[in-house]
Amino acid sequence: NAASKGGYEFYMLKEIDEQPAVMRRLSQDYLDEDGEPTVDPKIVNAISKADHLYIFAAGTSYHAGLVGKALFENFANIPTEVGYASEAGYHFPMMSKHPFFIFLTQSGETADSRVVLQQAIKRHIPSLTMTNVEGSTLSREADYTMLLNAGPEIAVASTKAYTAQIALQAILAKALGEKLNVKAAKDFQLKHELAIAAEGMQQIVDGKEKMEKISKKYLVPSRNAFYIGRGIDHAVALEGALKLKEVSYIQTEGFAAAELKHGTISLIEKGTPVIALINDPVTADLTRGNIEEVASRGASVITIVSKKLANKNDDIVLPNIDYYLSPLLTVVPAQLLAYYASKDKGLDVDKPRNLAKSVTVE
Ligand code: G6P
Repeated sequence: NAASKGGYEFYMLKEIDEQPAVMRRLSQDYLDEDGEPTVDPKIVNAISKADHLYIFAAGTSYHAGLVGKALFENFANIPTEVGYASEAGYHFPMMSKHPFFIFLTQSGETADSRVVLQQAIKRHIPSLTMTNVEGSTLSREADYTMLLNAGPEIAVASTKAYTAQIALQAILAKALGEKLNVKAAKDFQLKHELAIAAEGMQQIVDGKEKMEKISKKYLVPSRNAFYIGRGIDHAVALEGALKLKEVSYIQTEGFAAAELKHGTISLIEKGTPVIALINDPVTADLTRGNIEEVASRGASVITIVSKKLANKNDDIVLPNIDYYLSPLLTVVPAQLLAYYASKDKGLDVDKPRNLAKSVTVE
């Protein structure tokens, strides 16, 4: 059955490996033969009346929301804010005239997120929950639900739910943008791009030994590490860092590539691993400059780069994909680096200390 380990030593690797299938399933479930979104028109109608989207979430789901902001703003042309649910519950953000709330939650049970949903209900703000669990609390209490259909996620560190949340937000963004007549949405070949994502993910997981090698050489011996990136790569840098630190206990920070030099670069020593993400053609050269800055201070730089921007010295080269969907590929090597760092340190990958899969206290 879907929740069994199926020969894997840990669920985390099984769930990383399942991501290509999750992409194909979402494409099937939410896009028709011609690639047109089949999202419930009630949901599209309700959101298209909003002048502002507010995404609330925690942990990895929050990081998926940061990617969602880029998707909704680019494809639907709706200004979008992303907030930690735990903060918004008690420091409610200033609202636009016609807000719409989106809750991202794998489990649908996170107490911090539920507090914000209760506020939304009290203030008559319409809401949608994107969750992996049908009938979960946040699904029942929100006005609308979209299911991630990723299958049960057992490992505490979230992997396939993150990529499913990004893909599903892209589908919703396209549906909204088409309804609102946004050219970027009409031109977005999403079905084709999701097929590229599935194939690309497969290619990356088929080459997983490479990530184990890099992890053994640079991460396992280290006490700390950094992820850097610009734009959408910054959002993935935060998730890559969370993944690595939560399962391997290597203290890792994700940074906007250019911000490092405004203070934190003082932590770079000989051999400090810095994993640099490069998918944005507009800022690729600038990020290369930031890599030089840390390399000249002794950092061991590991690059994760999309093929069209890669050169012969890059470490991990990703298949080309639309910039807005690049997180679907970029995150996979980051997940694998985290997995192997944990496993090769002899840790319990699926159950890192002090953590729970879903947190029902505030
Ligand atoms: C817990 C888990 C995280 C997860 C977060 C939000 O802290 O350990 O992996 O990202 O909750 O969970 P949710 O189910 O709301 O996405």
